[in-house]
Amino acid sequence: MLRIKNITKNFGDMKALDSFSYEVAENRITALVGPNGAGKTTLFDIITGVLKNEYGVVSLKNNVITNLETNQISQLGVSRMFQQVTYFRNLTVRDHLLLCLDENEGMFSNLFADRRSRMRQLKRIREILKLVGLSKPLKSLAYELSYGQKKLLGLAMALLRPHNILLLDEPVAGVNPLLKKEITNILLRLKEMGETIFIIEHDMNFVKEVADAIVVLNNGKLLDHGSPKKVLNNPKVIEAYLGE
Ligand SMILES: Nc1ncnc2c1ncn2[C@@H]1O[C@H](COP(=O)(O)OP(=O)(O)OP(=O)(O)O)[C@@H](O)[C@H]1O
Ligand SMILES: [Mg+2]
Repeated sequence: MLRIKNITKNFGDMKALDSFSYEVAENRITALVGPNGAGKTTLFDIITGVLKNEYGVVSLKNNVITNLETNQISQLGVSRMFQQVTYFRNLTVRDHLLLCLDENEGMFSNLFADRRSRMRQLKRIREILKLVGLSKPLKSLAYELSYGQKKLLGLAMALLRPHNILLLDEPVAGVNPLLKKEITNILLRLKEMGETIFIIEHDMNFVKEVADAIVVLNNGKLLDHGSPKKVLNNPKVIEAYLGE
């Protein structure tokens, strides 16, 4: 589904990604793990066009997406939830979700839709909010949501964009155990609905529960990949990442 081939990214003298290759499988949850600074977010930045890369190719369903503009990559079906979700200060939950809906005339036109379109949009928004379990009123300011609620809104926004693959950067970092369990269930349900999910996460208990496959990055290089059972028992992975 998503093919990453020989991706290399240098920041000055430092190789953040060093000829990294991997193919993310369709309708699976794949977890990208590795120590702080391993290059995980950099890889997501390259896939989504936030950063340009010098070497290598990324393709989604046989469309080469390397070095396209972020909005083109999004149009081709890559939807992303960021590690640090930031929200517009004066826009409501509803406005943020409307901005993510794909309508033909550009994102801001969604804020000024006619009545019938608006009804349709709100129906879709309510479905997604129900799916992720965010029960705040639509008129709440997104900026004022709690940390966990902001994560759920970020996930809802990523889901609303038409997509073939979802990239999630640390969706359970800093959330309480109850919400973590809920997010686990949401992701498993999304997979049942046919989603392909590529997820960065440090929480190994969470990863074990959701992931079909794990990819380990270390110093920008592929260290191992495969089933959670195989990868998490690899002595090299334990040494590099999981520690004592
Ligand atoms: N814009 C940048 N300019 C210079 N160096 C950068 C830049 N972005 C990332 N780096 C460096 O690249 C390396 C990889 O960073 P990256 O953010 O991809 O790590 P990560 O695996 O996501 O780590 P974490 O688990 O802490 O989020 C780090 O050494 C980081 O300092
Ligand atoms: Mg990161």
